[in-house]
Amino acid sequence: MKPPIHSASSLSKLGQRATEPPISWLMKMAIDRPQLISLAAGFTDSDSLPVDEARALMNEMLGSANSGRAALQYGSTSGDADLIRLTIERLLALEGAKAASQRAYDPQRVVITHGSQQFLYLISEALCDPGDIVLVEDPTYFVFLGILQIHGVRTRGVPVTPDGMDLTALEKVLESLRRRGELPKLKLLYLVSYFQNPSGVTTALEKKEAALKLLRRYERDAGHPIYLLEDAAYRELRFSGPEIPSALSLPNASSRVIYTGTYSKPFATGVRVGFGLLPETLLRVVYRIKGNHDFGTSNLLQRLLAMAMATGRYEKHLPLLRRRYASKAAAMIEALKQHFPSSVQWLAPEGGMYIWAQLPKAIQTGPKSKFFRRVFARDVFYVPGEFCYAEDPARSKPRHEMRLSFGSASESNIREGIARMGAVLKELT
Ligand SMILES: Cc1ncc(COP(=O)(O)O)c(C=O)c1O
Repeated sequence: MKPPIHSASSLSKLGQRATEPPISWLMKMAIDRPQLISLAAGFTDSDSLPVDEARALMNEMLGSANSGRAALQYGSTSGDADLIRLTIERLLALEGAKAASQRAYDPQRVVITHGSQQFLYLISEALCDPGDIVLVEDPTYFVFLGILQIHGVRTRGVPVTPDGMDLTALEKVLESLRRRGELPKLKLLYLVSYFQNPSGVTTALEKKEAALKLLRRYERDAGHPIYLLEDAAYRELRFSGPEIPSALSLPNASSRVIYTGTYSKPFATGVRVGFGLLPETLLRVVYRIKGNHDFGTSNLLQRLLAMAMATGRYEKHLPLLRRRYASKAAAMIEALKQHFPSSVQWLAPEGGMYIWAQLPKAIQTGPKSKFFRRVFARDVFYVPGEFCYAEDPARSKPRHEMRLSFGSASESNIREGIARMGAVLKELT
């Protein structure tokens, strides 16, 4: 008997909206073609993954019946209490003297999630209905765009400048929503604040403060809070420049800032544990949704991270990681200078894993473009910049940019990949 064919009409509206996210395609390409030099994937540096540390921690954890049983049992929806406490301690250490209001850092406001990706999904579900509006940076983290798209949420883009979002443009967008009576639909502003994926840009604290104030000003017309969602996924991967406090350190943060971080990037992507800090009213809703979704993130993995942090192994691992990424970024920058024509623009990031390259406007970078096909034929792969732009009726998407990752490729492959791309660029310019 043939399996039943599901007609589109048997699917939910969400099911019908579900399209293949570009991330699945990108990850598959990298796995299917091992010879490919992937400057696309968001994979982290494999050689520095903490295998010895994880093995020692697992042995310790399963070394006694008590700790072993605790780790192998279900946990709570909110997350492991030790990991929550250590997460807050770590966050306060990063904030430094700026952490003025203790309320914003109350451990009771934390939820541990399956990667920060799950948190982004949960918070979107808690706040947004189809037709609602979310403001994002132009460009932004394209997997978050997928979450919004699948939920039928509309997006408006605000351009990114070298120190973060363009505030004049933000005010213009808010003003245009006010004029059209659409502010009641506006739920949040999403900001990837450290070494942004994809542009590498870090947002100045003053900009976070000004953005919060602007959102506040438009709340009266919205009739409800407009939240600032700060995604600090790459925060711990800083290899140059001074630390910048998060928006949690600002006045009114405890009622308006939603903050998410992850242990994927600074420890192990395969562990996939992240967290969110959020205003109490939202927290209750997120607990309920997560309670229905998975009623708790893997206890084993949470205990692994809590032990890594409590024993100092986590802290010890970070400098090694930062040195690796600093060195890989330097290799990519050197190669860009050597092989790319001067008409290509890019900024050197102070951390993270990405460089955003803007090619001359005449050279398109999309998956069907001549440039993409020629680069791919030479076994090199990047993320087409257009994937990182929201569907925004107010502007057309730029199509001449690309995200280059120095995360997973070796330094020699980074140099080789950029050299091959440079050769294609020369053919086309
Ligand atoms: C900006 C940003 N946020 C969130 C995530 C999700 O990471 P994870 O779910 O592994 O914490 C990523 C992953 O690449 C990211 O780039």
